Amino acid sequence: MIRTADLIERKRDGEELPAAELAELVLAYSRDEVPDYQMAAWCMAVYFKGLTAAETFALTDAMIRSGETLDLGAALGRKVVDKHSTGGVGDKTSIAVGPIVAACGVPLGKMSGRGLGHTGGTLDKLESIPGFRVELTTEEMLAQLRDVGMAIVGQSANLVPADKKLYALRDVTATVDSVPLIASSIMSKKLAAGADAIVLDIKVGDGAFMKTIDDARVLAEEMLELGRRAGKGKEVTCLLTDMDQPLGRAVGNALEIREALDTVRGEGPADFTELVLDACARLLAYSDLGIDVEEGRRRAERAVADGAAFATYERWIRAQGGDPSPDALPDAAVRLPVSAPRDGIVARVGALAVGVAALELGAGRRTKLDTIDHSVGVLCFAKRGDQVLAGDDLAEVHARDEASAAAAVEAMLAAYTIADVAPTERGVVLEVIS
Ligand code: URA
Repeated sequence: MIRTADLIERKRDGEELPAAELAELVLAYSRDEVPDYQMAAWCMAVYFKGLTAAETFALTDAMIRSGETLDLGAALGRKVVDKHSTGGVGDKTSIAVGPIVAACGVPLGKMSGRGLGHTGGTLDKLESIPGFRVELTTEEMLAQLRDVGMAIVGQSANLVPADKKLYALRDVTATVDSVPLIASSIMSKKLAAGADAIVLDIKVGDGAFMKTIDDARVLAEEMLELGRRAGKGKEVTCLLTDMDQPLGRAVGNALEIREALDTVRGEGPADFTELVLDACARLLAYSDLGIDVEEGRRRAERAVADGAAFATYERWIRAQGGDPSPDALPDAAVRLPVSAPRDGIVARVGALAVGVAALELGAGRRTKLDTIDHSVGVLCFAKRGDQVLAGDDLAEVHARDEASAAAAVEAMLAAYTIADVAPTERGVVLEVIS
């Protein structure tokens, strides 16, 4: 029997805890036998003292054992590839990646989450599609994967219940941005869902958990180490990608669905298209198709160009009960332009500021109980490095009323920095670590 106070004290003092004691702590917490206040204190001790690689793996393994696991690979008779993003502003990557990868013959079954704070959640975005169902049973998900090749669903209550509880606790105790806690939270969910190969999109910048490339590298190494310790056949690649400005143009649920759809048709913004194709190429190279990343890229581009990815998108949305037409998506009542105050070059479009502007418009939730307005958000037409003239449309606000629109225009003007010199050019994929 563990003494929780003793584990908190030993972690506070920087001691490495044995795997068996960590497992008991996590499993007892998930059975409601350890109170939140003690688990919160332990998380704060981890926040300051960290976890060793062995401890992080023990935590991940215990979280997986707290619930059921899925073996999608065995059920489909295929190697299963999965992707995950650490979360950012305008990040609708999975919604475009899934249909492209599936159109290339590789099934992608994903469990996604909801958004909290300034970052949106994939499920919230999908729910802006009228009729779309995110709650599928495992049997329904498998049938859809066999039939259409893709499914994005909400995380089942029985999969990694310890993480569900712990993440909610971390969210309100300032312990989310701890590298070992993030790594174990994400990897436990991916491994429990049966992924053999995982492409992790680690966002870096002011709109992300990881503010610097060095922090992102540390997180990447911890995720890779968890993949190695999880056993043979588990492959992990980390893409470190830019979140100093929003991804693509659209931020807000229905607006992002439109942009994902444009991208699947080959008409998306350059930075978003690049990230989507890069992730697709790596997922295809990890799959059982037996191809490399270059060939994966060619096949992904072909699926977009010949309409196969778009056809898969339509079949997928219909299979989950939704209407795939962009005309079915909700429109905001008020649209206001955000005009450039001067001539110059866009030096910065602060991702955090844009995310908060969308949140204030009603596109996100501050607390779990808030409801989302799927129609609202912003379109950032001008991105870093773009030349603008005074009066040009930098962005467009989509709001439910005039007052919130006016406030968002002010917030968006503050998010933009227009300068006389061009910022250093960098692509959306900053680094790849595997
Ligand atoms: N996403 C997760 O699922 N868990 C974390 O801890 C952080 C981001």
